[in-house]
Amino acid sequence: MSRKFLAKGLAAVAAVSLAAHAGMAGAAPADGAPLKIGIIGAGHIGGTLAKLWVAAGHEVLISSRHPEQLRPLAQSLGPKARVGTPREAALFGDVVLESVPYGALPQLGQDLKAELAGKIVLDTANPYPQRDGDMALEVRRVGTGVASPRYLPGVRLVRAFNAINADDLAKDAHRAGQPIAIPLAGDDADALAVAQRLVRDAGFEPVVVGPLSRAHEFDVGTPVYTRLMTAPQLRQALGLK
Ligand SMILES: NC(=O)c1ccc[n+]([C@@H]2O[C@H](COP(=O)([O-])OP(=O)(O)OC[C@H]3O[C@@H](n4cnc5c(N)ncnc54)[C@H](OP(=O)(O)O)[C@@H]3O)[C@@H](O)[C@H]2O)c1
Repeated sequence: MSRKFLAKGLAAVAAVSLAAHAGMAGAAPADGAPLKIGIIGAGHIGGTLAKLWVAAGHEVLISSRHPEQLRPLAQSLGPKARVGTPREAALFGDVVLESVPYGALPQLGQDLKAELAGKIVLDTANPYPQRDGDMALEVRRVGTGVASPRYLPGVRLVRAFNAINADDLAKDAHRAGQPIAIPLAGDDADALAVAQRLVRDAGFEPVVVGPLSRAHEFDVGTPVYTRLMTAPQLRQALGLK
């Protein structure tokens, strides 16, 4: 990532802080201030990140189509966690984590188009034909960085946390020694800056691979997918500086 791009991202984080306080859609508080994170799909990945982000001081709304089933998890997380529907998570979040089966994205994107418009959305979903049907074949062909924005139009999308197993996410967060790297791809500097912060807060090291058009470099089936690497190892594997 160029220094200019990084500087723009950092400036943007500060700028969106002012916007957040002014109540603008899609804004997120500045570095340091706790974020409100709406979590759509609080399963293996979403549930683990909810725990890690609450531990880092953020507020989460974990959601399900059956919110009552998430009450025990929310209770275990304490007062910074609440439960709701996917729509409520989309409205709640300065940032939204979307962590559902890939096949659910088209409907979700349609149903929550208004609520998600302009928001920073972290997308963990991976396409599996056996689970998601034939659409997953097309997603694998074009790459998730091309496909996901088609299903989630109008959001500031970052591909994130898709290339690590849920067990490793729980086990290796804040590990001793060099942290495990989490590859990110996105087109929006503000969104990437917030995503990097949330990767660090979860106990990992962000590596920005590039724009969404490069997200396929860490899609399912690539050599780096679910390989536990430090940031220098990941950068070397992907040919990044
Ligand atoms: N597990 C991993 O190691 C791993 C690693 C990296 C990426 N991923 C990817 O990340 C995504 C989530 O994986 P996961 O393992 O956390 O899945 P999971 O444990 O099955 O959780 C998925 C969640 O999505 C919700 N959901 C399912 N269909 C939905 C729909 N139509 N609308 C709204 N919510 C829906 C479910 O909640 P309700 O049924 O309660 O609504 C469920 O809690 C998947 O795309 C997966 O491929 C997984």
